[in-house]
Amino acid sequence: MARHLITSAIPYINGIKHLGNLVGSQLPADLFARFQRARGNEVLFLCATDEHGTPAELAAAKAGKPVDEYCAEMWGIQAEIAKGFRLSFDHFGRSSSEQNRKLTQHFAGRLAAEGLIEEVTENQVYSNGDGRFLPDRYIEGTCPNCGFESARGDQCDNCTKQLDPIDLIDARSTISGSTDLERRETKHLHLRQSLMKDQLNDWIESKHDWPILTTSIAKKWLHDGDGLQDRGITRDLSWGVPVKKGDADWPGMEGKVFYVWFDAPIEYIACANEWTDAKGLSDADWQRWWRTDMGAQDVRYTQFMGKDNVPFHTLSFPVTILGSGEPWKLVDYIKSFNYLNYDGGQFSTSRGRGVFMDQALEILPSDYWRWWLLSHAPESSDSEFTWENFQSSVNKDLADVLGNFVSRVTKFCRSKFGEVVPDGGTWGAPEQALIAELTTRIRAYEGHMEAMEVRKSASELRAIWAAGNEYLQEAAPWSSFKTDPDQAAAQIRMALNLIRLYAVLSEPFIPDASAALMTAMQTDDDTWPDDVAAALGALPAGLGFTVPEVTFRKITDDEREDWQTRFAGVRD
Ligand code: MF3
Ligand code: ZN
Repeated sequence: MARHLITSAIPYINGIKHLGNLVGSQLPADLFARFQRARGNEVLFLCATDEHGTPAELAAAKAGKPVDEYCAEMWGIQAEIAKGFRLSFDHFGRSSSEQNRKLTQHFAGRLAAEGLIEEVTENQVYSNGDGRFLPDRYIEGTCPNCGFESARGDQCDNCTKQLDPIDLIDARSTISGSTDLERRETKHLHLRQSLMKDQLNDWIESKHDWPILTTSIAKKWLHDGDGLQDRGITRDLSWGVPVKKGDADWPGMEGKVFYVWFDAPIEYIACANEWTDAKGLSDADWQRWWRTDMGAQDVRYTQFMGKDNVPFHTLSFPVTILGSGEPWKLVDYIKSFNYLNYDGGQFSTSRGRGVFMDQALEILPSDYWRWWLLSHAPESSDSEFTWENFQSSVNKDLADVLGNFVSRVTKFCRSKFGEVVPDGGTWGAPEQALIAELTTRIRAYEGHMEAMEVRKSASELRAIWAAGNEYLQEAAPWSSFKTDPDQAAAQIRMALNLIRLYAVLSEPFIPDASAALMTAMQTDDDTWPDDVAAALGALPAGLGFTVPEVTFRKITDDEREDWQTRFAGVRD
């Protein structure tokens, strides 16, 4: 039995995520986790909320709540929506946990001991009006280059020139509008990533089977311009993990916290510890997933994320892991995704453009979304959600191909043989041909799923469903029943068994429909079809079943038009 540690990039706490976020990490990670469990492997699947940083503070202020209260509430909402989408996390943690505070401070202490941290005195913009240091992007003013009046401190959106906030004319805080800004000296910790450049390069170069999207982004950061840069890992904020060296204070760093991108990936580890604590397990139980001196040498660790997250997972987090000098588990495979666009533009959280996770579940059950999103995952390039495409995929794949097969077979059987798997007849050439085709296709499906080729997996699964329809069309039990009822019985017995087979194979994509089909077939035998012929005999003659409710309904043109208008606009 193989052991799979699987993590999805942890979503920011502020706000509900849109479907593009979902398909970029959590959903494909769930697909892989479910598949590995179905194959009988041991899986630990983790995700959490990413709670620190300025955006969380500002969102809390906007909501008029203390930031910890705001985060606790938003965590609850995100956890609930994750359940709605059937994301099968073993634990959904929080980067603001005690476990993460401890581990983050521990790693900082180790990195310092290994000479990988440098204390740097910097000049940063302090807003007297806000009583705080301002990150560059919260400073706005007139661009010295083109005169654009709302240029950000780091870049002008009009002429794209990279800026230093000090150069802005009439600079002001975007938080309070205050223009009472000044430069102040402040000390920060820098992670000396550049010292590990060669080691990281060798590691990335050895990953021949990684997606090009992942390695190309990593190589760009390693080699473009001046190459891999050291980076600041502390901030002058109050919300975050206080800067400490293990348990010890860090002189000169009082009142500062670690930068959110330093503590967020450490939450992947802390989350395993939160999971054992919640379950009353021991430390050894999480360390066997994370420490190569405690059992994790046998673990295969896979991370899922959108392309914007790749630099942090291929470079910064590995520096934390490798630089610690301790035997922590390093990632084995990084599956990254391009972006999903929305109806001719981009999803926009700020403008409420596109479908957000809560809204999606209000209009259709999660399986509809899971199927569309996964079968159109933005793997080799960005992909686009359109309502026309969504309607046609759902109506064709789910309603016409899978749903219709189930309903034809069960209804025909009920009318001719009753609600029981019929006895009589034997398999002939058409059945042998079907078994051969399914065997080839199922082996291909397993290969694609194992390789996390999400779209290819979906199209193979669709072909497996279609093979059942073709068989039914050819066997035509409705005519053979008139001349040879035994033969019709054998054909229907085969078709009823196909329903169970489909339920087992489709579970990672559409878990609710799969469970409903298993219930209708009155079986809990979810054995993976290593031997397809044997799997097609799993439901013996004489076993009862029920005709399931409509497995998938069609989306009407009216609904499509209605939704198109409803989600084009602004959400408050
Ligand atoms: N919150 C980040 C985002 O949504 C992802 C953080 S992933 C981790 O883009 F590595 F930091 F955990
Ligand atoms: Zn400009």
